[in-house]
Amino acid sequence: MKTAILSRRTLLASAAAALALPRATLAAPAVLRAGPVTAQILPEGDGATRMLGLNGTTPGPELRVPQGGRLEIGFENGIGAESALHWHGIRIENAMDGVPGLTREPVPDGGRFDYVFTAPDAGTFWYHSHARSWEQVEQGLYGALIVDEPEPPHVDHDVTVLIDDWRLDRDGTLIGGFGDMHDFAHGGRLGNFARTFLSVATVRRGDRLRLRLINAATARIFPIGLSGATGRIVALDGMPLAAPREIGEIILAPAQRMDLIVDVEDTLRFDLLTRGEPYELGRIAVSGDTPDPIGGDIPALASADAATPGTPAQDLTLRMEGGAMGGRHSGDDIWAFNGVSGLQDAPFARFARGETARIRLINDTAFPHGMHLHGHHFHEVAADGTPGDLRDTTLVAAGETRDILCVFDNPGKWLLHCHMLGHQASGMKTWVEVG
Ligand code: C2O
Ligand code: CU
Repeated sequence: MKTAILSRRTLLASAAAALALPRATLAAPAVLRAGPVTAQILPEGDGATRMLGLNGTTPGPELRVPQGGRLEIGFENGIGAESALHWHGIRIENAMDGVPGLTREPVPDGGRFDYVFTAPDAGTFWYHSHARSWEQVEQGLYGALIVDEPEPPHVDHDVTVLIDDWRLDRDGTLIGGFGDMHDFAHGGRLGNFARTFLSVATVRRGDRLRLRLINAATARIFPIGLSGATGRIVALDGMPLAAPREIGEIILAPAQRMDLIVDVEDTLRFDLLTRGEPYELGRIAVSGDTPDPIGGDIPALASADAATPGTPAQDLTLRMEGGAMGGRHSGDDIWAFNGVSGLQDAPFARFARGETARIRLINDTAFPHGMHLHGHHFHEVAADGTPGDLRDTTLVAAGETRDILCVFDNPGKWLLHCHMLGHQASGMKTWVEVG
């Protein structure tokens, strides 16, 4: 079944009625119970969707912990299949990274595993299944993970904006075929309906908001239009920018995050920018005026305590290959890195602890890929060769090359993969080892 066009007119009704979800925040320690849920993904009044969720909802509860705080999450698996949780972007102890086959066995159906770790960096993160992720994340096993600064910036509302798309029938049924090879060989499983989950429904004109955008989609890159507010971008993938940046294009690859601080002027609208008219993902209503606007310049967030890259001890190249309209490669699946598909016994690279390395990511395919490294953030090397933004996921367009510079200072075995999860499932993953 082909439902590649995401259009309200051709398929589903408006996303405008998508309601704000009440924020279910869990402070650690907590139990996350994974199992079947019924979710109102489509606007109220349309059919509900049978999915997977955590503690009865998808997205799962928002987890919140102070910077440096300890999370203790009892993960109880009741989905009828093996599962595991990954804490995306957290510089975590390797054993808690939740990668079956690399860091730990998956949690069997009916089983429980207690994830215990500290969150060293303040910022916007998320958690998601890392077992058959192209299927389990698509079915709803994910949620936001927010690490609070000791002194958060002064705002009126801290708003989590989870963004996703789904492939649904008109009655709301989630369409199956998660492992469809045609999807995998192209841009991945793109939905035909998309929306935001917002933690705040109504604000006042003049309010200052912190918006935490998270792209939880398995494949879709979201170009987003934000209207009704002006402000600055203050963080990418959880990492503060040295100086707040003007809001130009907002493009989020799967798993990427962006924090903005904005002042409300009118109804706040999040649109998916398309070639045609914008597709509304969600809105925050405005009611009344704040008597006492915060206003003034938007300050930078306190900078992350990230290691400064040294001179690279290794210069590595990772060539992305395969897919539809791609060239030949010698891997045994749809996609490959350097002629190799999927996880091998030997890592792609080994690093001495604390070593800086440069990896040249060459996209030799006809599709964009969002490349994610576990356990670390890396610098996207800027055009002038200087270390640019710190990220954990970098979007590399078809035919493009991006150099990343990383201080490998977190010991263990770490995945490096495409976060288009169908691409990962069909060859685009490897791993590195930090000694
Ligand atoms: Cu967000 Cu390997 O994952
Ligand atoms: Cu990819």
